[in-house]
Amino acid sequence: MPSLFLQTLAGEASSPPPIWLMRQAGRYLPEYRAVRAEAKGFLDLCYTPDFAVEVTLQPIRRYGFDAAILFSDILVVPDALGCEVNFVQGEGPKLETFRDGTAVSRLSKARLHDHLAPVYETLRRLRRELPEDTALIGFAGAPWTVASYMVEGGGSKEFQEARTFARRDPEAFLALIDLVTEATTDYLLAQIEAGAQVLQLFDSWAGVLPPSQFHLWCERPLATIVKAVKAKRPDIPIIAFPRGAGPLYPRFIDSVPVDGVSLDTTVPAEWAVENLQKVCLQGNLDPISLLSGGEDMLNDAKHLLNTFSGRPYIFNLGHGVLPPTNPDTVKRLVDFVRSYRPSFD
Ligand code: CP3
Repeated sequence: MPSLFLQTLAGEASSPPPIWLMRQAGRYLPEYRAVRAEAKGFLDLCYTPDFAVEVTLQPIRRYGFDAAILFSDILVVPDALGCEVNFVQGEGPKLETFRDGTAVSRLSKARLHDHLAPVYETLRRLRRELPEDTALIGFAGAPWTVASYMVEGGGSKEFQEARTFARRDPEAFLALIDLVTEATTDYLLAQIEAGAQVLQLFDSWAGVLPPSQFHLWCERPLATIVKAVKAKRPDIPIIAFPRGAGPLYPRFIDSVPVDGVSLDTTVPAEWAVENLQKVCLQGNLDPISLLSGGEDMLNDAKHLLNTFSGRPYIFNLGHGVLPPTNPDTVKRLVDFVRSYRPSFD
């Protein structure tokens, strides 16, 4: 019996809709912080199947979400390509920088699968341990977002270095994007072999690209990955999250053959229903609303449930759960969604 989550991605509307939350495993959970304190560092957490399996399962035990997302990070791909990655507590990721063709030519995907073998082991164990009707989501960062961290050397508000590199030397930047595209395709296919039933591609920084560059660096590499994965595994649904795409969401779904798109918080739900009819929609609830966690959050949730009612929709946030979120608030939200029946008042 296919899970509610997989049925929805296949185009069936259900009421109430399935629910999971981006960053459902993470620092807001005390049991995550306890495991995190045992690990030598954040990457050690990602590369130790005992730890990664445990933290993936924590939110499933607490809330019984319809899907579990592999616990890892989008930056394991640059790490596997030979770019040094460090997570500095309280400061976020710090990476070795790649800002010209010579630097890019030092990267290689020769050791990709060796390096990522613990991630595949985590997926194999998760598929055995999860309830049968809980879907297992594998994921990767989109090439633009991953390459941006590699050029910038970490997070950034504007990703100015990455955008400058892409314009100053498009050929060398394309070599970087192509390498990440190929590595990500191989990585996702291996995740499927290991047990991932759905894939999500995070293009968290798609929104810093102007419309003239959006096709080149966001849509094109994502279309290449989605087509290559689907050529081998047409049975595996794929969700993309081009965060900040705004009015470019419709052309995104025209050029990238995904089964679903995740909506950030800036997209009006009614607009999405009107303009993004050919895919399953996901997300849109403001993660900040969970910080107050009162009627305000429930009203927004109800608005989404009513607006997306009758079409394939997966309840989720417009971005990840924030660390100061109270775990009881997440329970309140899940109970509210699960007890929802359509009404149009
Ligand atoms: O539960 C899940 O969603 C699965 C795990 C997951 C993590 N990162 C764990 C994590 C997923 C899907 C990601 C994706 C990710 N990582 C993205 C795309 C989604 C998004 O949020 O936009 C990005 C851009 C990254 C890169 C990254 N990783 C940053 C910028 C940071 C630091 C910011 C922060 O919140 O501290 C991380 C670290 C990270 N990845 C943490 C977690 C739980 C916190 C690390 C810690 O415990 O110290």
